[in-house]
Amino acid sequence: MTTDEQNSDHENGVHVTKPVSLSAVILAAGKGTRLRSALPKVLHAVAGRPMLEWVLRAARAAGCEHIYVVVGHGADQVRTAIEAEDVTWVEQRQQLGTGHALVQVASHLKAPTTLLVLSGDVPLVTAETLDRLVVGARTGWGSMVVAEMEEPGSLGRVMATPGGTLERIVEVADATGEELKNRRINAGIYALPAPEIFEFLADLKPDNAKRELYLTDALTAAAAQGRDLALVSLAAAEEAFGINDRRDLARVHGVLLRRKAEELMTEGVTILDPSHAVIEADVEVGRDSVIHPGVSLTGGTRLGEGCTVHQGAWLEDARLGDRVVVEPYSVLEGVVVGNACSIGPFARMRPGSVMKDRAKIGNFVEIKNSELGEGVKASHLAYVGDATVGEDTNLGAGTITCNYDGVSKHRTKIGKGAFIGSDTMLIAPVSVGDGAMTGAGSVISKDVPPGALAIERAEQKTVPGYADRKLKRRKTRKQ
Ligand code: UD1
Ligand code: CA
Repeated sequence: MTTDEQNSDHENGVHVTKPVSLSAVILAAGKGTRLRSALPKVLHAVAGRPMLEWVLRAARAAGCEHIYVVVGHGADQVRTAIEAEDVTWVEQRQQLGTGHALVQVASHLKAPTTLLVLSGDVPLVTAETLDRLVVGARTGWGSMVVAEMEEPGSLGRVMATPGGTLERIVEVADATGEELKNRRINAGIYALPAPEIFEFLADLKPDNAKRELYLTDALTAAAAQGRDLALVSLAAAEEAFGINDRRDLARVHGVLLRRKAEELMTEGVTILDPSHAVIEADVEVGRDSVIHPGVSLTGGTRLGEGCTVHQGAWLEDARLGDRVVVEPYSVLEGVVVGNACSIGPFARMRPGSVMKDRAKIGNFVEIKNSELGEGVKASHLAYVGDATVGEDTNLGAGTITCNYDGVSKHRTKIGKGAFIGSDTMLIAPVSVGDGAMTGAGSVISKDVPPGALAIERAEQKTVPGYADRKLKRRKTRKQ
């Protein structure tokens, strides 16, 4: 489809003839001074993704052919952090205001288009709202998202005719007391006809409190010249929440977590206290799983069906099968766990760890870069690093793989059905064969063949009556 192709259509009974192409511009060059951060504002994460990433996803979901992102403050950092092949980066060297930011894309647009203008710091916008916005723009001249807010705070106020077309937008810094009483706000999200919008932007002057070139002034000017700007009103005003400071950031994060929890509950997941669980956007949870309060499921974590994750567990990029139980305060990162496994309380699984079906690790057990076969048990106080443990083997309390010699890491191999006695030190590289045993307290530095017992301990000496005599002597001396 060529971008200057015209379509003729009936939408909502209105005959429209408009350019068919749809593009998006995301304004993301601002300093975000009020965040007081070394990190560019649009890279701050909400619910596990940089806020700019949320806006990008909304633009993609709305079906934009081209997405331009205007960057300036921390431009290199932003480009590196957001690896997006479908984006054209446009630099705004000096941040002279939102109007000036939009002007930067003018030379990149080769043909007429409906331009969705989004703010990199307004990440709750949904694709459905953008769809409504596009319909609004294509039936009139342009459109913008507005909302009635209980606490409009620092957001620009929108004055409109009783019929609902835009009269003017006033920034808080320039508003009169009377204007501030208006609770209809500008969400900073627009659908505008390009190239016409650039004619209005060319006339902008920084004659306002902030000495900036306001995009909003160009819309006020367009309205004054009779351009019909439709106001698309949000049913849920929170979609217009922007992020200008850390309070705003926490509020938006909360909304995104609540949206995710609601989505999972609809799909059949129990979340006992949704306001006290952190489940990030990319996480998947199978039905009939139960998430207790204080749990964090982050990154690419995936849980199967019927899992239970108890209080205070923290999972990042953890893949769990069905019916896995994670007991309280366990930490799992970059791991793969089979079906019907049990983990914790107070267990730690570090990256590269794999647990096969029915394996169990108990309190104060740490697993790193190791594979535990089906039905393996390590119930108490163990460190298993760089090891492979065969199915149904039991690792006694206090088992330690001594995997590091101060220079290199070495592997420990334990076969199937083995029994590692409590407090065994396994000096890697070392192997214990299928069905072998080690005696409690042994330091195993040589391979143990299948079926053997390896025991390494000084012989026990027992002196009859010694303790009695010693205690008596001490007691008489004290009198
Ligand atoms: C802007 C609107 C305001 C609206 C609010 C919605 C203007 C003048 N005001 O105010 O009416 O209610 O958004 O959240 O547009 N940016 C650039 N280059 C610049 C300046 C800003 O790219 O030179 C980017 C910022 O990175 C940000 C977005 O534009 O992502 C909005 O800028 P910001 O300074 O936050 O505007 P607000 O004061 O929030
Ligand atoms: Ca803002």
